[in-house]
Amino acid sequence: MARWVRWGGSKVVWIVLSAAMLTVLAWTSSATDDEGLWITVDREVFEELRGRTEFSFDHRPLQAAGERAGVVATQLRKGDIDRLSALIHRKYHRCGGFLVHGSRAEALETLQRAARIAAPAAVTFDVDQSATVQALAGRLDASLILDTITQLSTSFPNRYYVHPAGRDAALWIRDRWQAAAQGRSDVQVELFDHAGYSQPSVILTFEGATRPDEVLVLGAHLDSTAPGTSNPNFSAPGADDDASGIAVLGEVIRAAVAEGFVPDRTLKFMGYAAEEVGLRGSQDIAASFRAAGTNVVGVVQLDMTAFNGSATDVALLTRFTDSDLTNFLGQLLDTYQPSLQWTTDDCGYACSDHASWFNEGFPTAFPFEAPLGQHNLDIHTTADTVSTFGGTASHALKFARLAAAFIVEAGLVSGGGNAPPQVTISSPAGGAVFTVGDAVTLVASASDAEDGDLSPAVSWSSSRDGALGSGASVTTSSLSIGSHLVTATVSDSAGASDSATVSLTVDPAPGPGCPAGSLDFSSLALASYSNQNGSNGTQVLEAGAALRLTGNTWVRSTSRFTVDSGSVLEFEFRGAVQGEIHALGFDDNDSLNDAARHFQFWGTQNWTGGGRIDFNPKYGGSGDYRTFSIPVGQSYTGSMYLVFTNDDDAASAADATFRCVRLTSSGANAAPTVTITAPAAGASFDEGETVVFTGSASDAEDGDLAPSLSWSSSLDGALGSGASVTASALSSGAHLVTASVTDSAGASASDSVSLTVVGSSACSVEEGFENGAGGWLNDGASTCATGSFVIGNPGQRSGGGVITQVGGSNSGSASAFTAFNSSLGNADVDRGNCIFVSPSWSVGEASTLSVAYWHGQRDSGDDPSGDFFRLELSTDGGGTWSALASNGDSASNAAWATVTSPVPAGSTVRLRVQCSDGTSAGDIVECGIDDVSICR
Ligand code: BES
Ligand code: ZN
Repeated sequence: MARWVRWGGSKVVWIVLSAAMLTVLAWTSSATDDEGLWITVDREVFEELRGRTEFSFDHRPLQAAGERAGVVATQLRKGDIDRLSALIHRKYHRCGGFLVHGSRAEALETLQRAARIAAPAAVTFDVDQSATVQALAGRLDASLILDTITQLSTSFPNRYYVHPAGRDAALWIRDRWQAAAQGRSDVQVELFDHAGYSQPSVILTFEGATRPDEVLVLGAHLDSTAPGTSNPNFSAPGADDDASGIAVLGEVIRAAVAEGFVPDRTLKFMGYAAEEVGLRGSQDIAASFRAAGTNVVGVVQLDMTAFNGSATDVALLTRFTDSDLTNFLGQLLDTYQPSLQWTTDDCGYACSDHASWFNEGFPTAFPFEAPLGQHNLDIHTTADTVSTFGGTASHALKFARLAAAFIVEAGLVSGGGNAPPQVTISSPAGGAVFTVGDAVTLVASASDAEDGDLSPAVSWSSSRDGALGSGASVTTSSLSIGSHLVTATVSDSAGASDSATVSLTVDPAPGPGCPAGSLDFSSLALASYSNQNGSNGTQVLEAGAALRLTGNTWVRSTSRFTVDSGSVLEFEFRGAVQGEIHALGFDDNDSLNDAARHFQFWGTQNWTGGGRIDFNPKYGGSGDYRTFSIPVGQSYTGSMYLVFTNDDDAASAADATFRCVRLTSSGANAAPTVTITAPAAGASFDEGETVVFTGSASDAEDGDLAPSLSWSSSLDGALGSGASVTASALSSGAHLVTASVTDSAGASASDSVSLTVVGSSACSVEEGFENGAGGWLNDGASTCATGSFVIGNPGQRSGGGVITQVGGSNSGSASAFTAFNSSLGNADVDRGNCIFVSPSWSVGEASTLSVAYWHGQRDSGDDPSGDFFRLELSTDGGGTWSALASNGDSASNAAWATVTSPVPAGSTVRLRVQCSDGTSAGDIVECGIDDVSICR
């Protein structure tokens, strides 16, 4: 077995076991297997080699000359190189990639490169060419892919890079691609010859129509390997590794030509020679592209596409690849093959040709047939045939579709590919405030990936004033008064644009001073309150008399102002924006969110929380101040805070500025205000329960008047005075309790609450006259000469066949009746009406009145208008009466009877008895009552 060495122009030394090449490069025969060779290799691989005595160098375990980012530089015997790759594949089921270097210094220099994060792809691609992608993908044919794999793996079963068959395979590919490109003058096929071995690489180029200098590469390796591969008679079919990649490229080329696809960027399809012996073909090509300064904007490697060994269809490999380009492939899979599963994985150090490009600084991506370990484990053996993947190219077709999507989306510029420019405004700062006439300098910078510095092309405009000119810096002194959104816009040569905006305000020139008495905000202490949205804006105190609010801001004065019914609020205002809320108003309370007793004016919205002054301006027009003079009206009198609001939810730069704010007073006295705070209206108490009444009273002029509150009950009269009064003997029944106060100028105010005291007994009245009259009186309106009502026990009297006076009371030993008679006709009612009235009784709850009565009258018809009896009820304290029992001028036999009547809740009850004997004749008339009760 002979060995050869080539010292290449790329300063990388490639060592491969090859008998065939001995005669070609006889000068290398001086090299021996034991000669030291510098490599860089994955750290894990290095550890494995170091642990094995057969890899020891100079009779010592391998030494690491340097390590960086998991890659180790070490020295190996040349003869151990092939054993290295085979060992790793066998042991780890992954690649054992390595790079060979001409010297220790070069190996160490490569470590630096390995650690370097590849520069992001200068060109980004969009996914927006769905129609073309679908059309192209629709032309792809798995059976043609399978046909190519079959032909390569059977007609060229050993494509080792030094064998004639290895060269023949390359020429066969060249011819196939040439045939596919028939009729396309913009498509060329060529061989890329490599020094030192006969196998060429094959390159097919679609010349880019509009961006020919931006190059996209899709590659696969056309060589194969297997144990004993240096014997041309041994089989190294390489069906999956990597006839499957070559076949995918061929099918995409065929479909693109059939579709008439013309890319904007240049596309290069590459079949690399000599991958299996250290990425040699691709190293040469990548180095030559780098040397020529070719702008390769994306490289996709297709190495192993046919073996479907995992539920995950595609693994995007992350080592030696560019994350942007890799993400782009993921995006293409998601968009065009959404049913596929994909993941990312790592195949180790330098496992395929993408590494060659990556090491030259080009952005790469590598979609692989499966996650590592689930890939085809028969590669690099005689078993790597189409039957290993079931004689179908259905898995490879997924990669062909991905490659087709890539050449369309990355190959076409329109709508994609062009990076939009970026513009940034550096001056003025957002929110800057100028005075009209100020020279305002606008400065921006703009850059574009394709066009470079576009700052001079920036054009400026204002939302208020329109175009402001163009250039990196523009100065204007003519901005109009008001809020501006100033926008800098730039477009690149491909038509993409970007803009940036800052807000600024141009204030009017300071006007004449405010009228005397205006608030000076620089001295007025203000407290800032957060609004209901919870976001605080800023409050800006401007010089002198103006208060400017931005964002969401509520500002309340810390001191109160006296507002009377003749007060007028005058101010100048500017800056309202439609849809946003700007308010100036009063609040009598520390809580800004209560609906009571505050008024506001609004930019456009109506105030529903109470009184409001209609105010629907849209100032912004002139940007100048407008003057307002608002009569406050009676509703807001008292001691009030001033509240300023700017509620700019839309962040529309809707500043509100108030200026020359002053509150005039008519000098009229403002009435106090009274509020009963306890008990609550409608409260109910038990008889005897202690009730605490509390109230507040304030007065614009006199301040707190609560200690002067005087309290009274509709049932019980005066209850006392003070901010708090306690009553524990309230009568049962319905009370209206009133607290009233009078200020020093004689204006008074009151507040009332209704409450109920529930009696402890079921009866509010029980009167049997056993202990006297119980408040009953002979009424002053009585006209009778004799027969006034007395309390006692009547004795029966009769005359003319009629009982005129009962014998005995209805119950007990007393009742009320019209005088004692010693004999018939003695002290009976004579010459008029004897009227007996009860006291007033409060009846809290609905009840029933019961009263016993009798009426005796001897004659009928002798005095029709004068002789009568009435028992009457009033439930309104004597205002109106209704009869419970009555008799006219007819004989009546005295006998106790009982009458009942309902009494509504809350009544003031009185009873009245009229017992009348007219003046015209001498009849005998007498009456009595007993046992009055009003019970629930
Ligand atoms: N197709 C393989 C790489 C591969 C194998 C990737 C298994 C993922 C899983 C490639 O042709 C190859 O064998 N590469 C060599 C490295 C090269 C620098 C000699 C390898 O992995 O050993
Ligand atoms: Zn391969």
